[in-house]
Amino acid sequence: HTSYASLGSAVQAGVGRNGMDCVTLKHPSGASVSLYKFGAHITSWKLDTKKEMLFLSENAVYDGATPIRGGIPLVFPQFGGGDLPNHGFARTSHWDIRAVESNILVMELIDNEKTRGMWRNYAFRLLYTIELGAKTLKTTLTVVNRGAEPFEFQALLHTYYGLVDIANVGVVGLKDHAFMNKLTNHSVSQENSKVFRFDGEVDSIYTGSPRSLHLTGTGLAGSGDSVEIEIGATGSTGHDVVVWNPHVAKAKRMGDFGDHEWKSMCCIEPGFVAKRTTLHPNGEWSLYQTLTATGVDK
Ligand code: BG6
Repeated sequence: HTSYASLGSAVQAGVGRNGMDCVTLKHPSGASVSLYKFGAHITSWKLDTKKEMLFLSENAVYDGATPIRGGIPLVFPQFGGGDLPNHGFARTSHWDIRAVESNILVMELIDNEKTRGMWRNYAFRLLYTIELGAKTLKTTLTVVNRGAEPFEFQALLHTYYGLVDIANVGVVGLKDHAFMNKLTNHSVSQENSKVFRFDGEVDSIYTGSPRSLHLTGTGLAGSGDSVEIEIGATGSTGHDVVVWNPHVAKAKRMGDFGDHEWKSMCCIEPGFVAKRTTLHPNGEWSLYQTLTATGVDK
């Protein structure tokens, strides 16, 4: 068990909403990243004390059971459908601190009675590595099969970006990728826009491993120009990217989301969700995203 006193100067343990355990990692530049141990859920990434990059709903619920609305929820081992809760149990499990190095924090979730009750008796280890730079945040999710039988899974880094106004942002890098539109029964199309804009409800799974995306425009809350998003996965699985905004009607239907908040967020979620991938005993799979804020100093 890691004691808080041994976490070192760059990492501080704290108490979040409703007394929930939090951890904050600080960079000498003034940048910081904070997470709840509940879900290993990042709720804040700041470039300095004012420049918050992520969206967090004013109606988010902090009861240690409901997933927190905003930040970076972790989706594992399933994305929608199936017998498990929507988006799986990683975001509603209690994670431990596995390791701390100057600018790196590693969180860990090992199968336990609760996960085995929900997901057969699969034995797994999840490692979530959070690496903070002056203008960068890298998050890597690693899945290890530590059992004797193979399992299938899906996973996502469900990143909510904070926006001033969604009308003034675009996503570059999706062009020519096929996408499944969840709003039209998973119909498949090809993206034609060089700069994708949110002009209504959006809920799409882009396939074909988009590696480098740009969130651009004047609508970003925390940074000057854009966020560059670099994505990679190990092995030959490739990856997908979910792009989501609920717009007016779905925002109203969500109990833990303000009616107008759809204007101040969008989700760009790298992961593996179009299919399921199989991990054999001792197998290991990981996926990362590196987020770089640009134009901050203007
Ligand atoms: C997105 C899904 O990843 O997450 C959407 O594609 C979903 O369909 C959204 O509405 C939020 O999901 P949840 O479970 O956090 O309400």
